[in-house]
Order: sequence, then C-alpha cells, then structure tokens
Amino acid sequence: MTIIRDSKVASLLPWLHVNSSMLRTHTCGELTRTHAKKTVTLCGWVHRRRDHGGLIFIDLRDRYGFTQVVIDPTNKPAFAIGEKVRPEWVLKITGTVRKRLEGAERKENPTGEIEVLVDTVDVLNEAKTPPFEIDVEKDVGEDLRLQYRYLDLRRERMRRNIVLRHSLMQATRRFFYDRGFIEIETPILIKGTPEGAREYIVPSRVYHGQFYVLPQSPQQLKQLSMIGGIDRYMQIARCFRDEDLRGDRQPEFTQMDLEMSFVTAEDIMAINEEALIAITKEVRPDVKIQSVPFPRMTWEEAMNRYGSDKPDIRYDLPLEDVSDLCRDCGFSIFADAIRRKGMVKALRIDGGATFSHKEIDDLTETAKVYGAKGLAWMKRVKDKLEGVPVEKLGADVSGKIAKKVGMKEGDIVFFTADTFEVAATSLGAVRIEIARRRKLPDPNVFAFLWITDFPMFEIEKETKQIAAMHHPFTRPKTQDRARLKSDPLSVKAEAYDIVLNGYEIGGGSVRIHEQDLQKQIFDILKISDEDAERRFGHMLKAFQYGAPPHGGIAWGLDRMAMLYAGEPNIREVIAFPKDQKGKDLLLGAPSLIPDIQLKELGIKIAQE
Ligand code: AMO
Repeated sequence: MTIIRDSKVASLLPWLHVNSSMLRTHTCGELTRTHAKKTVTLCGWVHRRRDHGGLIFIDLRDRYGFTQVVIDPTNKPAFAIGEKVRPEWVLKITGTVRKRLEGAERKENPTGEIEVLVDTVDVLNEAKTPPFEIDVEKDVGEDLRLQYRYLDLRRERMRRNIVLRHSLMQATRRFFYDRGFIEIETPILIKGTPEGAREYIVPSRVYHGQFYVLPQSPQQLKQLSMIGGIDRYMQIARCFRDEDLRGDRQPEFTQMDLEMSFVTAEDIMAINEEALIAITKEVRPDVKIQSVPFPRMTWEEAMNRYGSDKPDIRYDLPLEDVSDLCRDCGFSIFADAIRRKGMVKALRIDGGATFSHKEIDDLTETAKVYGAKGLAWMKRVKDKLEGVPVEKLGADVSGKIAKKVGMKEGDIVFFTADTFEVAATSLGAVRIEIARRRKLPDPNVFAFLWITDFPMFEIEKETKQIAAMHHPFTRPKTQDRARLKSDPLSVKAEAYDIVLNGYEIGGGSVRIHEQDLQKQIFDILKISDEDAERRFGHMLKAFQYGAPPHGGIAWGLDRMAMLYAGEPNIREVIAFPKDQKGKDLLLGAPSLIPDIQLKELGIKIAQE
C-alpha cells in the first residue's frame, strides 16, 4: 500500500501535540527512527490485526497514516484486549517506539521503519463489522458508499481526495487574497437569479405564499458589491441548481466566484490564467500544462473543429465541413440537410477501417444521444472507397471528400448531416468516444483552453424562445451592438469560458453596467418592463447610482477537484454528495416533513 503523506497536512502536525491535555502525543503518520526509545500515545482505528508467533500486530490508522503497534504476550492485560479487538475499533495505545528489525521495514510507509511496543491499550469504542472493507481499495457499490459515507471517508481514496480539495481551495484563496481580493459571504436565501436552471425555493413562514430562492450563483450580489465599491470580490460560494444530473453536475456545488471593477475581459482572463497556473503547480506539480499562455478559440471555431464548446485539445481529431462538396449531391440525407441551412460534417479516423459493425453501431448510438438520426461512414480498403455514401454520392464526390479530409488506406470517415448544432455536437461526441477507446487523452497533461466570442443569445430548445446564452447581465461586444435589434442572434458577447481537458471549469463575462443597455437586453429577451421591474428592479435601480464597468468569472471547484484528483465524477471529491438521482442517501433527503410544519408554512400538498 502506498501511503501518500501530504506536505500541507504534515505542516499542521506540530500543533497537534503541543497541547499535553490532548488524548494523544502523536498522530499515526509521524513517527520515524528519530523517535526511537520515546514513550508515545497514539489514538486511531484498527486497520488490520495479525497474530504472529505469539505477538499481536495492529496497524493503527488515523487521517495521517498508519503505525504498526506490537503487543507482547508477556503484557497480559494488553494482550487480552489485543486478542479481542476487531477492525475499526477505536483504540488509545501507549508504548515505546522502537526501530523495526532489518528486513521488516516498510520503506513505502513513512512510519515503516518503526513500531510501537505497547504498554497499555484502552478501547475508546467498539465497532460493528463495517458493510465494506476499509483497508482494501476494492470497488464497492456507490449506493452503499454513500449510505455509509463516514466509513467511506476513512478509506484512502476519499481521504486523499478530500485533502486535495482542501489544498485546491486554500491555494485558490491564498492566490486571490494576496492580490487584494476580499471574500464576501453573500446570502443563501435570496430572490431568483437567472443562470438557466430551475431554482430551489424555500417557503417563508412569516409571509405565506412567498418564497426565498436559493442562489444559482451569487451573480447579482457580486455585481451589486462592485457598485458598492468593493473593487475586487471573491468567494468560495455554494450554488444550487435544480437540473438534470450528470457526472459533472450536482444540485448543490461550489464555485470560486470572482468579480473585478474597471477591467477588460483581457485583465480578467490574465489574472485567472496566472491563478490557474500557480494553483496547478501547487496542487499537481507532477502534471504538464500543455501550453502557456493558454490557447484561445472562438466558440464558432471550437464548435466547427471539435463539435464542442469545451473541447479536449490533448488530442486533435478535427471535424471537417464537407457541405460544399455535398450541395445538391445524390445522397438525399446530405443534400436535404444543406438545403435546410444545415451542414455535413466529417471525421477521419486513422486506421479506422478495422472498426467492426458492432463498434460502428455503438458509435451511432453515441451520435444519436446528441440528436443525430444516423452515422454514415466510408472506408478506404485496398485503395477502394466503400460504404453507403460512396454508392449514393458517386466516385467523383466521394473521391473529393476523401481528398479533402486526407483519407489514407485503412482509414474510415464518419459523417453527420443535420443542423449545424446537431451535426457538430453529435460527431463531436463520436470524436470523444473514439479518443477514449484509443486512450488518446494523456492523464498527465492539463490542457487549458479559453473559449471566447460566445453568441449573446440562443434559441432555447424547449421553449423555442430567444434566451441569453450565459446570463442576461453579459455585455454584448461593442462592435455588434448596432445589430442588437435587427439581428440579435448574430451578436457576440464579451464572454469567455475556461476549459480543462474537455470540461468547462469556469465561465464569465464583462457585464452591462448601464441601465438603458440592460433594459435593451431585457426587451430582446421579451422580459416586459413590468416583469423586469419585478425580477430585476434592484439591479436597474442600482445601475443609476454610478455603477462602475465590471466583469468576472466563476470556476466550478468540484469539477476542478475532480480533474486534479483524476476522478471520473464530482461525487468522488465531495464529502457528502447527492447520488445520481439527487438524493442524499446518508441523511435521507429529500424527505417528508410533519403536517404541523407544513401548516405553519401555509402549504398544502396536492394529491396527484
Ligand atoms: P456558470 O453557470 O457558467 O456561470 O457556472 C460557473 C461554473 O460552475 C460550474 N457548474 C457546476 N458544477 C457542478 N454542478 C453544477 N450543477 C454546475 N453548474 C455549473 C461549471 C461552470 O463553468 N454567474 C456565472 C459566472 C459569471 O458570469 O461570473 C455562472 O454561474 O464549471
């Protein structure tokens, strides 16, 4: 077993034993040869217990590590206890540190050169047999882990992740505090703030029929603090969004939220880039940052080239637009898509002609998740092109496509034909899946990427209404403002996302600070004056009192912790997460509440 000793944690150790009234003199992770012959008292959990030639060996564990303690049969009272202890019992032992015999040392463990010969043992608490083993890094069902999260937290994986998350948060705070940012705690019981998700609401007991809303982010409050002259704000802030869950989404999550006055987008991106480099060097000194300064890509380039607004650029595998070659072609699926102002996207995979039908079917299912109706393909085998598109398009067009995408012997080209968004994102998903199967992403590389020039507005899928792509406080690009009324969908925003290894780890923008421009945006979003006044009257009012130009960003700290810990989902880096269906399996939330409480709140539950 490898014991990772965290240097930040180790630096906390001195104060752990300065106070002699504490139960222990040392932790289980700190004794070395230099402590030989010292009398020490340790407290911890029984990690493992072994009987060897009459001696009892116990690995005593706490957050800091393991120490081997030995009970000699001549010490009858201690031996009697040693014989009955079981895994996870809580013990306090006092004894003498001694060097282990040569050959019995375990150099991989920081305490592996010593053991403690027990003088006295106190059982501080007994423990039932845990529902899963703590001492083995075996896969355990997630439901069980979440139900007994306090036991899961004792395991090495969670301990390591929680320490890493702590280091990430502290490094972040330190970086921004050192640069004059002030941490302000904004309230949790607020009024709605539009970030595109459904909100959690809290009924008021005093004002029946009225509700507080939990913040989707501190967006409006951080802007108001700029108007309040705070100049540089930051907060490690809890946010709440009632949206469909995924591996990188939780209903409550943590942002590093930041706002600055009298700055341009360049200033905000520069300080964030500096922060991310410094924090990465501190938290993951072993990884290589792919490129500094971080590359930048416009939203349109990213969507066109990778079919994603958060591409993983540790590998290339670019998509090609072959629409110009397929206009009015003999393949009606392609020709129709182009006629409907859509496009045909192509993805060439080196040596992909060996993909089996099953593999291609699976990739087709991946494309369908993003709305594609199918996934066409053509292969080059024995210098001949084959596949449905070849038959339909004819030798000339398929030959031109093969040339455009650089097809070689043994390659396959996949096609999607649909609206720009569907064709790009569905083929983008195929790109990611193939890269995953081929193990293309290097886990030891961090590829940061800025995405810029987002459209200001989009058409929302469900409502088919125009909506703000980020949020309605985002500033439209100055050069595009003349088109706000005539062609809003062509207007770009002063917005930027920061992407790491294919995940959006942060997003922000320069804001609107003028009342009339804000009103203009509300008009485009069809928010009536009355509605704007009701929902955002406080912002419009504040803009009239000398709002400075300002802008900011928010990082998704859970996602960052997930990537820095090399974990597959954010639940692994949250001490007490919700499960994939939004349930807290440990506490049992959500849950019914007593009628009397409902009555106090003036709430009646409608019978379905
Ligand atoms: P945005 O909505 O892009 O911006 O959120 C910022 C970052 O928060 C993370 N994130 C999430 N993480 C886990 N679970 C979720 N449900 C979840 N939703 C978002 C993402 C995302 O990039 N107020 C703006 C910021 C600004 O404009 O300054 C905002 O909240 O990593």
